[in-house]
Amino acid sequence: MLPHALIIRFRQQLLQWHASCPRPMPWKGLRDPYLIWLAEVILQQTRVTQGWPWFERFRKRFPTVQHLAAATEDEVLKLWEGLGYYTRARNLWRTARYVVEQLDGQFPRNYEGLLKLKGIGPYTAAAIASFAWRLPHAVVDGNVLRVLARFLADDTPIDSGPGKRHFTQLAQTLLDPQYPDSFNQAIMDLGATVCTPHNPQCHKCPLHSDCRATRQGIAPLLPVKRRKTKVRTRHLHYLIWTDGQHTLLQRRPSGDIWAALYDFPFVETSHPTTSGQQLLRQWLHAHQLAEPRSLPHPTLLWQGRQRLTHQLICGYYWWVLTHQLPPTLHNWQYVTIENLCKFALPKLTGNFYTYLLNFKDSLPTGKSNGIYNP
Ligand code: ADE
Repeated sequence: MLPHALIIRFRQQLLQWHASCPRPMPWKGLRDPYLIWLAEVILQQTRVTQGWPWFERFRKRFPTVQHLAAATEDEVLKLWEGLGYYTRARNLWRTARYVVEQLDGQFPRNYEGLLKLKGIGPYTAAAIASFAWRLPHAVVDGNVLRVLARFLADDTPIDSGPGKRHFTQLAQTLLDPQYPDSFNQAIMDLGATVCTPHNPQCHKCPLHSDCRATRQGIAPLLPVKRRKTKVRTRHLHYLIWTDGQHTLLQRRPSGDIWAALYDFPFVETSHPTTSGQQLLRQWLHAHQLAEPRSLPHPTLLWQGRQRLTHQLICGYYWWVLTHQLPPTLHNWQYVTIENLCKFALPKLTGNFYTYLLNFKDSLPTGKSNGIYNP
């Protein structure tokens, strides 16, 4: 149980600080649940400075939930390109359609109703409920967890179920029920600008005099996490089948990273490999395509890496020049190299594409070994 006087001081000091330290952001002060939802989804797992231009772009292109629902999934993914965690974009689009088609374009007006929508978890539901309707629900994101763990010098691991429940209860206790919107915005801003993960600026903090971690000199050590994220390394060998102008592109299936984005066909191996022809054979075999009489000699054009939350992706981009391109199967299509920019590509493939455009005059052009003629 927190002393009542401490709770009251926490609220007052936080709100006073927030009023005196404006941090202008385009979603601040909004009351439209659609725009709040859009901003909060963009800001999940994304820094404010990075998400800001995406919010402006989405708001301009899709000013209402009806505009978003009328778009195609491809359009939404293309506009999302570069922001990562694409499940957010797919859920955004699906939920927009649901709200328009099933709820007459109206977002539920309470926390429980919001929670039922796909892609809306406790954090986003609390943000919409408090910012749009001033309902007393505390938001708990990484910033809030850090402020609370330090304020109370609480070493409960934040990445465990009980830890999350514990800190949510604390946040709910501290929340000012009269000003839930300002309180939520203030505590997030404090975590983002003062109570930062490294080098916290405790001397600037409005909660300084009551902060137990500051008193004990342990602020930078908190919050505590139980698990280290395990990272799996994957080797994806992209085969850029091309006649010099066209290339084969696939829409990535669900059930793996980058679902519904567009990418080159690939072969996955457990280790890096240098045999392009072996990769071609593997790929042809996997898709039950006959091996051509003269197998092309792929050239490794570019390699790059991308770190995702649980995976390190090593991408190898093999140029497979051939007179006759393989047939297209289910979710594959041929596109011209210039038109690749119209598709939503994973960042890694986007980086490769930039390389390709910069060096297209020095690409291998010999076609003598590239006959796909099974
Ligand atoms: N991060 C997530 N939501 C935010 C908000 N509303 N303001 C500042 N940072 C945020």
